[in-house]
Amino acid sequence: MRRRWMSAVAVTVAGVLSLSACGGGGDQKGTGDGQAAAKKQVEVFSWWTGPGEADGLKAMREIFEKQNPGLTFFDAAVAGGSGDKARALLSSKLQANQPPDTFQGHAGAELQGYIKAGKLEPLNSLYDELKLKDVFPQQLVDQLTYEGNVYSVPVNIHRSNVLWFNPQVLKEAGVAGPPKTIEEFVTALEAVKKTGKIPLSIGSEWTAVHLMESVLLGSLGTDAYNALWAKGADWSGPAVTKALESFKTILSYAGPPQDDWQPASKQVADGAAAFNIMGDWAYGYFHNPPDGGLGKKSKEDFDWAASPGTDGTFMWLSDSFTLPKGAPNRDGAMAWLKVAASKEGQDAFNPKKGSIPARKDADKSLYTDYLEWDLGQWASDKLAGSIQHGVVANDAWKTAITEAVGLFLQSKDAAKLQQALVEAAQTNNQ
Ligand code: GAL
Repeated sequence: MRRRWMSAVAVTVAGVLSLSACGGGGDQKGTGDGQAAAKKQVEVFSWWTGPGEADGLKAMREIFEKQNPGLTFFDAAVAGGSGDKARALLSSKLQANQPPDTFQGHAGAELQGYIKAGKLEPLNSLYDELKLKDVFPQQLVDQLTYEGNVYSVPVNIHRSNVLWFNPQVLKEAGVAGPPKTIEEFVTALEAVKKTGKIPLSIGSEWTAVHLMESVLLGSLGTDAYNALWAKGADWSGPAVTKALESFKTILSYAGPPQDDWQPASKQVADGAAAFNIMGDWAYGYFHNPPDGGLGKKSKEDFDWAASPGTDGTFMWLSDSFTLPKGAPNRDGAMAWLKVAASKEGQDAFNPKKGSIPARKDADKSLYTDYLEWDLGQWASDKLAGSIQHGVVANDAWKTAITEAVGLFLQSKDAAKLQQALVEAAQTNNQ
């Protein structure tokens, strides 16, 4: 098997105690009469509040409620794409021993952090009971496993390295099709700039990290990108310098930063911008009917390709749900995990979420249009792990990378960015 899954890295969960709790069902669980009702409540913590992604959660919730009439789903989602805000609050809740009943965590380094910090219960018996090791790819289960115990239930596979584009805007700019290399990308961005449209849309700070991971992969190539996460890897070489200079050039074509990924993606769908590099949750948002998505037509209003230079490689991430130690409603959490693990749950969730199922036995006929392409790429591509979405860098390392990119967005100094990334790797990848 030529696939290469990144080895997960240890971390302790960083504490962010200054945030106030919000939306936490745990805080609302009362005493006396309230307790009986609260017993039935299942607090599900995620960051799927926004257009597009909330549709996926809703679809899975409906199945949960149908199958568990005695339980109440409590949506403890914290707004903010990619979950940076949610994870900060979660961290403070876990430190205060006030966990939700279950929370969303990314497979790989991020999840390993929670495990090593002793925050999660193993789910071996659930895996045995539902024979889950037979239905999830072995390499994915490896990313959820520590010292022989498996700790979460993956609901999906997302692709990070997608170039979304507006075919009409490309046409107006005389750009024949999606750029295949970083160099072609820069040429296309320049052509769009001349039309007065936004060449590249961008959202809040995390979307710049998301963009950077695609540019690193596209510029370095898959093997060199994957090697960055091996112990002792050197980030100071000329190939990284070149990649970061390209990142700087590409960013110079970005429009005004939007509040989050949705408004940035929307600029492409609306024809205000030509390109956006974003994960495939953007597909759910573009495609879903207008009550949750934009109801746009694929290939007309929006189109997609592998992000420049990354064709043949799937930069992956996976959302999973956990059982925190001390979950107030453990049985309720197990009921949620069973739905999340099920074929029915995954086939309801993923077509809406814009992701493909983690289960190998899902109903392929439900995955059409972009998602059909996605399934095909997943089956044949090489793999690389996402930085922003928890696969390759532990929490402390990712925080250092985010800070470095944040400073770079101000200074535009690629050499300083590289130096900060070198130090981040030296400090955190041991
Ligand atoms: C990712 C997450 C996705 C999607 C995205 C944007 O971290 O894995 O499911 O929610 O953030 O919010």
